[in-house]
Amino acid sequence: MRIFITGISGLLGLNAALQLKDRHGVSGSYLTHPIRVADVSAYSVDLSKAAAVEEIFRAKRLEVVLHTAGLTNVDACEANPAEAKRLHVEVTRHVARAAQRAGAKLVHISTDHLSDGTNRFVTEESTPAPLNEYARTKWQAEQVAVKECPGALIIRTNFFGWGTPVKKSFSDWILDGLRSGRTLTLFHDVYISPILINDLVDVIEELIQCKESGIFNVASCDRISKFEFGMRLEKLFGRSPGAVLEPVSVGMIEGLASRPLDMSLGTNKVAKVLGREAMPSVEDSLQKLKDLGESGWPEKLQDAMRLTGEA
Ligand SMILES: NC(=O)c1ccc[n+]([C@@H]2O[C@H](COP(=O)([O-])OP(=O)(O)OC[C@H]3O[C@@H](n4cnc5c(N)ncnc54)[C@H](OP(=O)(O)O)[C@@H]3O)[C@@H](O)[C@H]2O)c1
Repeated sequence: MRIFITGISGLLGLNAALQLKDRHGVSGSYLTHPIRVADVSAYSVDLSKAAAVEEIFRAKRLEVVLHTAGLTNVDACEANPAEAKRLHVEVTRHVARAAQRAGAKLVHISTDHLSDGTNRFVTEESTPAPLNEYARTKWQAEQVAVKECPGALIIRTNFFGWGTPVKKSFSDWILDGLRSGRTLTLFHDVYISPILINDLVDVIEELIQCKESGIFNVASCDRISKFEFGMRLEKLFGRSPGAVLEPVSVGMIEGLASRPLDMSLGTNKVAKVLGREAMPSVEDSLQKLKDLGESGWPEKLQDAMRLTGEA
């Protein structure tokens, strides 16, 4: 397949490019952070400019557009709702419209943030009840994606994995803290069902190959508090002397945008479609994270963002 990744310099985009490039023709776009990966073409394209998006999609004769670009900082979206709307709703409109015109399949990356957090393992059928601007604009983006490109595949997810020099993942942030010997506070009352990025990319590839469309939750089969997630990382990776993980309630932190307390996603639909008994557990995914770390994956991500001309 000829796959174009928007946000190829991002956490998900760069991992996806490295993982897919040996089996597919991969290209993509960044805004401010160039990447350099053998066999992958990357272009600087401001996705908020509709004509620029149309032009690159037409030129590349695409089969799949994996739309990962966005503004992932929840508090930044709250502080600047116009920017959140521009980057989620308007950019998605341009990407989806151009994908439809190019005859390409759109895979739109959404979020686990859409519910009000009162129910666990929400399904694809539950009506979203967004609590903040990030979630509101991501939900609007889903609707725009389907309107402009009716065969779109919408992926609701929460992921962790090895990050880039520019963007750290949740697990990177905890591992950095464990290594540096600091006290890290983690919410004991916020629940997620995070999937390893590399497993997420595999599932997306399978869903495309199965010609699926519509909304899919792609997450781990279990739910875990952010504090417990940190404890499991500590158990697996160890810690430097002095590093402490401290449980704290999200309600104790002032100035944060409202967040759902339970963001866990039900994954029966995706497991059934893919013929699996269940999606991976957090425990298995953490072991895989460690294995990838030992196999040189983080260095590949670092190399991809080492600028031309640097030693
Ligand atoms: N991170 C998570 O834990 C998480 C959880 C659930 C869902 N998601 C969703 O997953 C997707 C990917 O997240 P991520 O963490 O991989 O994102 P990220 O690392 O923050 O990357 C964002 C990407 O968007 C690009 N971008 C931003 N504005 C742009 C513009 N105007 N034109 C072109 N490109 C632009 C950035 O390019 P430059 O860096 O080159 O400027 C970057 O490549 C997002 O849609 C997010 O909502 C993320």
